[in-house]
Amino acid sequence: MKKIFVLRGSPRAKGNSNIMLENFLSGLPSEAIIYDYNANKIKLKACTGCLRCNVLKKCVIRYDDWDEISKKILDADIIVFASPVYFLHFPAPVKLLLDRFRSFVNVKLTENALDYQAFDKWDKDFVLLLSLGSSSVQDAEPIIELFQHITNLLQCRDRLHYLIARRMILSGQIFMDEQSLSNFYDKLGINKNEASQDYLKNKDLLQKCKELAERLSFV
Ligand SMILES: Cc1cc2nc3c(=O)[nH]c(=O)nc-3n(C[C@H](O)[C@H](O)[C@H](O)COP(=O)(O)O)c2cc1C
Repeated sequence: MKKIFVLRGSPRAKGNSNIMLENFLSGLPSEAIIYDYNANKIKLKACTGCLRCNVLKKCVIRYDDWDEISKKILDADIIVFASPVYFLHFPAPVKLLLDRFRSFVNVKLTENALDYQAFDKWDKDFVLLLSLGSSSVQDAEPIIELFQHITNLLQCRDRLHYLIARRMILSGQIFMDEQSLSNFYDKLGINKNEASQDYLKNKDLLQKCKELAERLSFV
């Protein structure tokens, strides 16, 4: 049975990335085991850069939740980051967790670059469910590039999947009905005609979140 590690990045319970995540989770079989964490509620200290993980193969920082969380990450078949984009990247609580990923890999300095070797075999799918304020998906590119890098070094290169919701400002906007969306766009000065298209796109995106989970469950 598939095990899924989930990290929620939004501080808003009804945030759009959380709604994308709920739709994703609805596509999993009922027996799936879900390790569900909210980056805003867990206790994680920042990486101190001590580099001892390079030799010890684990993070030496104590008295936070990393020990438990890192075991869940390693145990999972699918790793999901559902998050808003803040200043072209993840919100700080998500970045705290990502920096601790350093303890999963040995890093060697070579003449040309850094050479990464994962301590464990990573046979996992990675899913990004991102919500943006911008009308352009360009603002998600730094995160996508980061995950292309991470999946590459963990040798899961072809197993990165992502879905992006754009033009999302209000909590719950992704499932607003067409009329409410149109009224909201009117207030923002966005052409009302965009609302009918966005309404359909948002609906389709939530369906795609569910279908992605269904597809990954049967791989
Ligand atoms: C501090 C902060 C920084 C943000 N930076 C960006 C940004 O760089 N690009 C963007 O498209 N949206 C940005 N936004 C908007 C959020 O990404 C957007 O509203 C998102 O849909 C919120 O997700 P949520 O509903 O899951 O909380 C920012 C919002 C905040 C609060």
